[in-house]
This record gives sequence, structure tokens and C-alpha cells, in this order.
Amino acid sequence: MKSKYMAEPYRIKMVEPIRQTTRDERITLLKNAGYNPFSLRSEDVYIDLLTDSGTGAMSQDQWSAMMVGDEAYAGSKSFYKLESVVKHITGYKYFMPVHQGRGAEQVFLPQLVTKKGMYYISNIHFDTTRAHVELAGARAIDCVVEDCYDIEHYHDFKGNFCLDKLEKAIATHGKENIAGIIMTITNNSAGGQPVSMANLRAVKEIAKKNGIMTIIDGARYAENCFFIKEREDGYQDMDILDIARETFSYGDAFLMSAKKDGLVNMGGILAIKDNEAVYNKCRTYIVPMEGFPTYGGMNGRDMEALAVGLMEALDIHYLQHRIDQIRYLGDRLRDAGVPIQHPVGGHAVFVDCKAICPHIPYDQFPALAVTNALYIEGGVRAVEIGSLLLGRDPDTKKNIQSRMELMRLTIPRRVYTYNHLDVVADAMIHVYEHRHELKGYEFEYESPILRHFTATFRPLK
Ligand code: F0G
Repeated sequence: MKSKYMAEPYRIKMVEPIRQTTRDERITLLKNAGYNPFSLRSEDVYIDLLTDSGTGAMSQDQWSAMMVGDEAYAGSKSFYKLESVVKHITGYKYFMPVHQGRGAEQVFLPQLVTKKGMYYISNIHFDTTRAHVELAGARAIDCVVEDCYDIEHYHDFKGNFCLDKLEKAIATHGKENIAGIIMTITNNSAGGQPVSMANLRAVKEIAKKNGIMTIIDGARYAENCFFIKEREDGYQDMDILDIARETFSYGDAFLMSAKKDGLVNMGGILAIKDNEAVYNKCRTYIVPMEGFPTYGGMNGRDMEALAVGLMEALDIHYLQHRIDQIRYLGDRLRDAGVPIQHPVGGHAVFVDCKAICPHIPYDQFPALAVTNALYIEGGVRAVEIGSLLLGRDPDTKKNIQSRMELMRLTIPRRVYTYNHLDVVADAMIHVYEHRHELKGYEFEYESPILRHFTATFRPLK
């Protein structure tokens, strides 16, 4: 339990009851869910760390702002309010609301794919981003620094682009075939790891030299700004808002799942710095895909809540507490010897299940074994990020082996207290101490794509 005279920077005004089940109940519940935590009912989960996406708590200011939502189809007051906040933070000229992050991806990414054989390059594409790159007829290349895969080794900015890999990818495929460079901040797939300002600046220079657009996938940009302030020379005394503005100066477009650092349960942002031609294409395309450009998939009231949430997420006290919570959980696990991605990132602790279960081969899903054991032990739901998520090679149909077998303990924003995190840590440490008893899984049912959501399993003897 953490104190030193500091605790959650909020007090609780409304509560949502949660219920712990018994171990025996959880054994049955998990079996009935086909040993897939996605199929559990949330009421059967005590502490839900499946995702930080759309699972945060809104503030009293956000709830009261919802009362003045303008639900006009066109030209809603709430749109103009949200637009002014987005412009204030990004400095970009054009803005459209979308229903969530993937809405921004489906509207924007196809616009830069102007012919066959094009590529997007990212530090690491998030799953839906990669899917939309491929749906647009392009291919996705990841160019993250190798330090990202060195789980035990400390690095300030494990989310950085490897500039060498980036330049080589552009040279190999030809700059005219690169649709855009996507800066994922923080880098979710690598553990919510930050990208430094120096790295963003260098990527922008390479992009500019080659006439390529840069796109910020900024679902967790505020957390990235916090790490820059904390770790990068020259930023210690700068406001988070100013760090955000410099960050956005290196992008030509901004795609955001507002379900993370927007502090709302649903919503997204598509903003474009100044490219009028691309904006005009998006403005046409958004109508059939998401909605009329001044609502684009969001209610007026939700735009009001987002306008407030975006500013709250830039508050240093909020950010300090958020990152401290993740670190607290990470420290408790590391102190007990549990291997995790080090240092922890902005939204989650990523547990290294390859190291915990060397006796379980990748195609028996070691991170699923740990995830299920954690649910049975403590009623805590986490998520597998490894070979199960990666799927099969479309040509050979073989299971692809992931470089990392991770379990993500994702912390929702402003939802759980340090006591909840202690429950998670205690249960995880118990699982770790009994790791030799863990067994792998085989498929009972496997869907051809996105199998991790719907598959059912049998535990192996
Ligand atoms: N980009 C990043 C970096 C993300 O983490 C996500 C979603 C998206 C785009 C897509 O946004 O869900 O609003 O459509 N990440 C969630 C997660 C789902 O659990 O990490 P969305």
C-alpha cells in the first residue's frame, strides 16, 4: 500500500459494486467460457484489467457537460466546442469526430493509398491500424528499436523508431511507395512504451526529406508527454500542454482513440494539420463510413464530455497518479521476481510469460495459461498478447510464433485504488510461485481470423 501522504487525486462520489466469486465458482465459470477470458461476463470478474480502452471513470465536470450536448445533425454547438479544444492542443486546422480510433483509421488511411504496392511504416502498428492498412490494399512495416524486445533491460524510450530500419525500409521500397509513417505514441504493442521527442523529430526529418506524410496514432499521447517531461533533457520544466503541442508539430495528421487519453467511454478524433486535399477526401468519405462531418459517429453529449476529458488528461497531477499506479503494480511484481517488460509503460504492466513458462511451447499459448490461472486465483481478468493474438500464416496456415509472449495487466483510468492493485499483485505472485504447475491449451474451436476473441480451448494434461 502506497502512501507518503499521497493517494488518488479524486474522491469517490458514485460507486459501482463489484463482487468477488469463490475459487470453485471461477473454475466453473472459466470452463463454461471455453477457457477464453473474452467470453467471461464482466459481473463474474472482480478486477477487470482486460483493457484501458473506454473503461475509465468520467469526472463530475464531464458528466455535467453532457447535459448541454447539442444533438443537431449538422453544425452542433458541441462540435464547435470540441473542435476548439482539439485545435488548442494540436494546432491543426481540420478536425472531424469519429466513433472511436478505428473509425479514424478507416476514413483516413485509405486516402493515402493511391496505387498498388504501397506501405505504411510505424514503430509498431496497433492491430486495428494494421488491419485498416491491409484493408486499404497496403502493407504494414514495423521499425521499432531492438531494445523493445529486450524485456529485462531498462531503456527510457523503448517505443522509439529505429531510424536505420526506417531509412532502409524507405530505400528498399522506394519513397514513392510509402503511403505514410505512423507514429504510435505510446507504443501499445511494446508495453505502452514511450517515444522520445528527439525520435519524433528525427522521424519527421526523414519523412520530410522523402516527401512522406507523418500520422500520429495518439490514443495515449498525454501519457507519452508525461514520460518526455520526466525523462528527456530540456522538458522537465515544460507544461504537458506545450510538450503535446511540440509533439503534434511533428505530425501531419492525428488519429485518436479518445477512449484512452480522452477520458471518455466512446469516441475518436481525426485531425489534419493543413493538407486541404486530404481533408477534402476524408470529409467526403466520412459521411458514408461514420456520419456527417460535424458528428462523425459521436453524440453531441459525448463530444461535450470529450472536450472536457482531453484537458483533464493533460493535468500533471492526474498523469503523475496514473503512471505511479502502473509503476506500483510493476514494482510489486518485480520485487517478487515476476518478469515484466521493464520499465513499465503508461497504461499497463506486461508480464513476460515466455520466461514464466519455458515448459509451455508457443503454440500451447503460455500467456493464456498465466492469464487463466490469474483469473482462477484472484478473479482478475487480464489479456494475452502473444502467439494466440498473432494467429496463423495466411499461406502456410501454421501458427506464427510471436517474439514475445505477454500478459497485459491494463489499468483503467481513475477506476481502481491501490488496494485493488494489491489484490492483483498478490494473486499474480501466487501464480508465479506455482508456475511449474501451469499447463498449456489446445483449440476446441478456432475462427479463421481474429481468433483470440472467439476461440474455445481445452487445457492440456
Ligand atoms: N491505436 C492504438 C495505439 C490503440 O491502442 C487502439 C486501441 C487503437 C488505435 C484503436 O482504437 O479501439 O478506439 O478503435 N486499443 C485498445 C486496447 C482496443 O485494448 O489496447 P479503438
